Amino acid sequence: MPQLTAVILAAGLGTRMKSPLPKVMHPIAGRPLVHYAVRAAFQVGVERAVVVTSGRPELDESLAQEFGERVQTVVQDPPRGTGDAARVGLELVETEQVLILCGDTPLIRPEELTRLIAALSEPGASELALLTCTLDAPHGYGRVLRDAAGVVLEVREQRDLESPAEHAVREVNAGMYVGDTGVLRQALAELLPNNSQGEYYLTDVVASVSRSSRVTGVSGHPEALLGVNDRSQLAQAEELMLERIRTRHAQSGVTVRGAARIDDTVEIGVDSVIDACVCLRGKTRIGARTVIDVGCVVTDSTIGDGALLKPYTVVTSSTVGDGAQLGPFTHLRPDSQIEADVHLGNFVETKNTRVRRGAKANHLSYLGDGDVGERANIGAGTIFCNYDGYNKHKTTIGADAFIGSDSQLVAPVTVGRGAYVASGTTVTSNVPDDSLALGRIKQTNKEGYAPKLRARFIALKAAKKKP
Ligand code: UD1
Ligand code: CA
Repeated sequence: MPQLTAVILAAGLGTRMKSPLPKVMHPIAGRPLVHYAVRAAFQVGVERAVVVTSGRPELDESLAQEFGERVQTVVQDPPRGTGDAARVGLELVETEQVLILCGDTPLIRPEELTRLIAALSEPGASELALLTCTLDAPHGYGRVLRDAAGVVLEVREQRDLESPAEHAVREVNAGMYVGDTGVLRQALAELLPNNSQGEYYLTDVVASVSRSSRVTGVSGHPEALLGVNDRSQLAQAEELMLERIRTRHAQSGVTVRGAARIDDTVEIGVDSVIDACVCLRGKTRIGARTVIDVGCVVTDSTIGDGALLKPYTVVTSSTVGDGAQLGPFTHLRPDSQIEADVHLGNFVETKNTRVRRGAKANHLSYLGDGDVGERANIGAGTIFCNYDGYNKHKTTIGADAFIGSDSQLVAPVTVGRGAYVASGTTVTSNVPDDSLALGRIKQTNKEGYAPKLRARFIALKAAKKKP
């Protein structure tokens, strides 16, 4: 295959999205739209990609971060149509052939692109090939007009269609082309904005090339061409992408139940189970043999092997070790470091806290800015009082310590190794190793007093009822 550069058109205003964010930066399944087109190009052997942008810095940054120096950007300002964008992009192309894609067609697959590129190197090949597709509802797409013998003559945009016969054409232009760089440059230089939008249409090169040589239409799968122009197409593209991602994980040995939403950026180890209504987002990695039960939301986090996240556990920017068990309804806020074999139960919230190997906090607790030692046991209703209204302070619990239920640890404070905090204690000063901290009011019992108390309450209630 001769060397190939991709030009990806991504400078359009995307007015139909009604958003200040450039259209191609809108994400589906955790990646901006434009990343999918760039990646597809690299998957079929393109060496370098030129992305035509509107000059928005967030777009340039996100491309550089994801693809590094293989992607170059060039600004088209103002956006005067796809033909003008392609002309700007081609200025940076040095290879003999060029692949032109749109930044808003994320579902393009290597299968289609490989066939498209091959059309250019077939015996007696043409100088331009475009991907087409036959749709039941072609409205909105440019139509591929052919002569009686089936030779491609031109692409006509929806708004420029004239006769009922043209409206009836169901073969549409997918917006993906491969061609001889020199021929395309020439054709682009001659474009005129003589259409209903007054724009330079890339599609007009089809008519101009077909006058002197053959243009090949390569047909692809309808799903591959879906172009995102508005929010409902964005949602449609995302659903299709999520289905592909679920299938990919299923094929590599992950059980995926229901319509779990797994970002494209997520990795999952073999033999894990991702249950219904789970959302795995961002740079999340799930180990092997781990179960993520119904309704969990895991964002930018790493979960080890053989872990269990019971229903509705929420984990954000944190790590969870091998064999740990969380939930139901555990909430790990950013920078929680939950080590192997830890158990955290319902309504336990952590933030910026390390919970060391084998420690347990099974019910209703807040562990903020803490360090919990190995095998320590945190009783129900324990609160790390980490914030004094101005500053955050640290709570340190030693290994094998026991914190009785309903205790408050007023940070900064340290509970030593093997220490024991009695239930209901407010710990305000450090507890040495192996000590008992007992900080509650002494209880008194008045024997035989309960029936007297009841009789008094009954009499009071009766007195109230009398008129
Ligand atoms: C385009 C095609 C249409 C095809 C459809 C497939 C043209 C004239 N029409 O229509 O035949 O069926 O794609 O999805 O090409 N862009 C720029 N600069 C501009 C204008 C657009 O970079 O000045 C970029 C956009 O960011 C977008 C891509 O080009 O990624 C396509 O532009 P868009 O306006 O979405 O074209 P469609 O109307 O969808
Ligand atoms: Ca489009």
